[in-house]
Amino acid sequence: MRKIVMALLLAAACTALAACGRRSTITVECERAGSDLLRIAHPAKYLLLPVEEACGEARVTLVTGSPADVAMDVRLAHDSVDYFVPMELPAGAEAVVRVEGVAPDAVFWEKVSVSDRFDTGNTDRYRPVYHHTPPYGWMNDPNGLVYKDGEYHLYYQYNPYGSMWGNMHWGHSVSRDLVHWEPLPAAIARDTMGHIFSGSAVVDRENDAGFGRDAIIAFYTSAGDSQVQCLAYSTDNGRTFTKYGGNPVLTPFDGLRDFRDPKVFRYEPAKRWYMIVSAYKEMRLYSSEDMKEWEYVGAFGDGYGVQPRMFECPDFVQLPVEGDGSRRKWVMIVNVNPGCIFGGSATEYFVGDFDGETFVCESAPETVKWLDYGKDHYATVCFSNTGSRTIAVPWMSNWQYANDTPQRQHRGANALPRELSLFTKDGETYVAADVVGEVRSLRGRTVAAGDVTVEGEKVLAELVKGLGGAFEIEADITPGDARSAGIELCNAAGEKAVVYLDMESGRLVMDRTASGVVDFGNRTEAFTAEDAAVTGPMNYVNDFALATWAPLTLCEGGTYHLDIFVDSCSVEIFVDGGRIAMTNLVFPTEAYDTVRLFAEGGAARFGDVTAYGLSM
Ligand code: FRU
Repeated sequence: MRKIVMALLLAAACTALAACGRRSTITVECERAGSDLLRIAHPAKYLLLPVEEACGEARVTLVTGSPADVAMDVRLAHDSVDYFVPMELPAGAEAVVRVEGVAPDAVFWEKVSVSDRFDTGNTDRYRPVYHHTPPYGWMNDPNGLVYKDGEYHLYYQYNPYGSMWGNMHWGHSVSRDLVHWEPLPAAIARDTMGHIFSGSAVVDRENDAGFGRDAIIAFYTSAGDSQVQCLAYSTDNGRTFTKYGGNPVLTPFDGLRDFRDPKVFRYEPAKRWYMIVSAYKEMRLYSSEDMKEWEYVGAFGDGYGVQPRMFECPDFVQLPVEGDGSRRKWVMIVNVNPGCIFGGSATEYFVGDFDGETFVCESAPETVKWLDYGKDHYATVCFSNTGSRTIAVPWMSNWQYANDTPQRQHRGANALPRELSLFTKDGETYVAADVVGEVRSLRGRTVAAGDVTVEGEKVLAELVKGLGGAFEIEADITPGDARSAGIELCNAAGEKAVVYLDMESGRLVMDRTASGVVDFGNRTEAFTAEDAAVTGPMNYVNDFALATWAPLTLCEGGTYHLDIFVDSCSVEIFVDGGRIAMTNLVFPTEAYDTVRLFAEGGAARFGDVTAYGLSM
């Protein structure tokens, strides 16, 4: 009886016409308890799956009879529908989809439908205007960043079946200028070996791997019962990839569980390819001639930097020494989770020398250098094949609350791409991360407020009015004898993001405690007792409502140049050309449209205050 009722409900829901002009209909066949087959006659292009994020994961498989068929984990709706996700159906007389783990009384059975269209028009109030996001679904780390033939390829950790983490694919977007991104179909799909975790890509100019001259070779972690490194190649400019038949190309020699995120680069002195892989508390290096056979070289990291913690998503780049372009130093970029400065995940780096075998860090092991002092800067890695430029792209979130942000149609954006360079301060070498110059092309309406001296406050009501919360503000702030001096971005709802120089503590601070929606991220999950020592017990405080800060000792002092980028759900601050970078999410219920300059305890000078509307 249940089956017949369901079939009727489904037939009623099938209103779309398939391309052939015949009505696409779904009937349900019960395979066994908890497993049903949806038989779709004259399949339309998509099966639209209703998702309810509060539900556990059910399993959905497009059944083709191939051993490569793989179940996707989807939070199919039980009580109500948050949104739909499309599953692409093959053309033909019939498509079959297996659904496992959905209760008979779930609203799913009424709401599942077919359609030739899937609307990706933006419905998220917090979808950024000028930051890269997937058109729908979940995104975390940038992957396989590679430049080739005028195109920047941005692959990314992608769940096409929901806006929470799961079903890791490599999503794909391309850009010619690092700011305008064109979404393309996912490039590498989850398979029977496991999730397609993070990794990198290179251009194989000399055909060392044998897949063709100029092939793009991608390396990713296949994450199933264990984590192993795999290779896939593309001979159509990164649009589609073929997984190598000899995968995996690298397994851990000691059975390590956390062994992932391969970054491959060319090391010319040895005329070999190198791979750096995160291995729990260290980074391991391997080398190869053909990118298929990898030999262990050595490891770095145990005991270095913030403790305790786990390493993920490495990169290893060379940057010219400030003032001496003929010398270069190596920078190991290490993404760390959990245990970071403001809780959860963040990006650290080590500066030193590398001779093809050993990386020698030039700082004491306890020295900690952050690439960004916000809370939403993670999994940052750099493009390969960009010549003398080193361009990094962060994922703009934090594992403490990434799955809980107040978004639905999509979750996850990249922070603006940054160009990396070295500078020296007080005997230490640091990395400056400044926004790429290409971002200037987004500037539209310009309002110059000139030089303003402030003691107390000065409200600039018109500076960013009407810009829809997507703008840039530049100013040279000289705090003088003021105790603090800064810029408050606010709206009529009384919400504010406050950026200021706190001269008493010697810090640049961004306070988002009253920035808008902050009541999520109220829990933190500790992985081990050791991690719990850092993250604290479960359910302790709100992880989101906080202020982040950076030491002003990184700057020369006196006057500070601030370049602030505001978008629908983010504030990024670059001080003195990226000596300090600070990236934080914010969720104001209406756009920030008013700027308040303030100085406490004295007069501060705000020089050349200028605002630009930013749009695509
Ligand atoms: C970092 C990370 C990586 C892993 C990926 C999985 O954010 O945990 O180590 O490859 O995300 O999505």
